[in-house]
Amino acid sequence: MSNPSDITHAERPRKAPAIEFRDVHLAFDDRVILDGISFAVQPGETKIVLGGSGTGKSTILKLALGLLRPDSGQVLIDGIDISLMKEREMLAIRRKIGMIFQDGALFDSLSVFENVGFRLSENNTPLAEIDDAVRRTLRFVDLEDAIDKMPNELSGGMRRRVGIARALIGSPKIILYDEPTAGLDPPTARTICELAMKLRDLEGVSSIFVTHRIDDARQMASEFVTIGEHGEIEIIHENGDFCLVNTRFIMLRRGKIIFSGTDEELWASSDPYIKTFLS
Ligand SMILES: Nc1ncnc2c1ncn2[C@@H]1O[C@H](COP(=O)(O)OP(=O)(O)OP(=O)(O)O)[C@@H](O)[C@H]1O
Ligand SMILES: [Mg+2]
Repeated sequence: MSNPSDITHAERPRKAPAIEFRDVHLAFDDRVILDGISFAVQPGETKIVLGGSGTGKSTILKLALGLLRPDSGQVLIDGIDISLMKEREMLAIRRKIGMIFQDGALFDSLSVFENVGFRLSENNTPLAEIDDAVRRTLRFVDLEDAIDKMPNELSGGMRRRVGIARALIGSPKIILYDEPTAGLDPPTARTICELAMKLRDLEGVSSIFVTHRIDDARQMASEFVTIGEHGEIEIIHENGDFCLVNTRFIMLRRGKIIFSGTDEELWASSDPYIKTFLS
């Protein structure tokens, strides 16, 4: 049986960007934070957002999730303009999106199982189904053994992985990462980036990945994940001749996008601000 939403789906161009900002302006009181921001995240692409503290990186993620509305301009998810959407319609859009918050944002009084399964339990999903999905998702982030632990029993890196697992439940095709490696040691940060690469390369997830760490940016832009001959996960370093890695960058400064392009273009930039930022 068809319903009106199926029809609009069929009529949409097949390859609309997963996320698109069109000339987005946003001010808090009289402080302009975003001053005409336009960019698109193509299906399967990861867009790394760089910029100093307070430049509006988290604000961009909140706009994509419909938690904030632009003063003017449009925000589109899978080709659908959400900027004027009613809160009730937004719920269906938000179901397509997983968000990894800057502070981890676990519920401290709930176990790992309850944290990860939270979204499903809210939708009255049967317990056996929740159990299955939570175990599968925890296996993906390599934390199945922690299922019965409480958040205060976990290390910083484990908490971050639980936050990722919670965002992954229900298999969203869009994931928003807000500084998922902040405060982690380099090997743990690497593991988090590998998870994001697996989602990009094996699951076709589209993402915005906000980070301060240039190491994250280098790794995400120069490595990709494939499945080897015997079903094992392999991480391949791009050899520099081709651009096989589906990752692009934007850099924010004073409300504007001052750079948009590939990692090669970013590292080769002669802009003094960008050079300082990357050094
Ligand atoms: N709800 C709000 N009300 C008023 N000002 C806000 C609000 N949310 C954010 N801001 C301000 O907007 C600016 C951008 O905030 P945002 O959190 O997007 O920055 P950010 O780039 O994520 O910074 P950081 O790297 O420190 O996380 C900051 O100056 C912040 O104080
Ligand atoms: Mg932020």
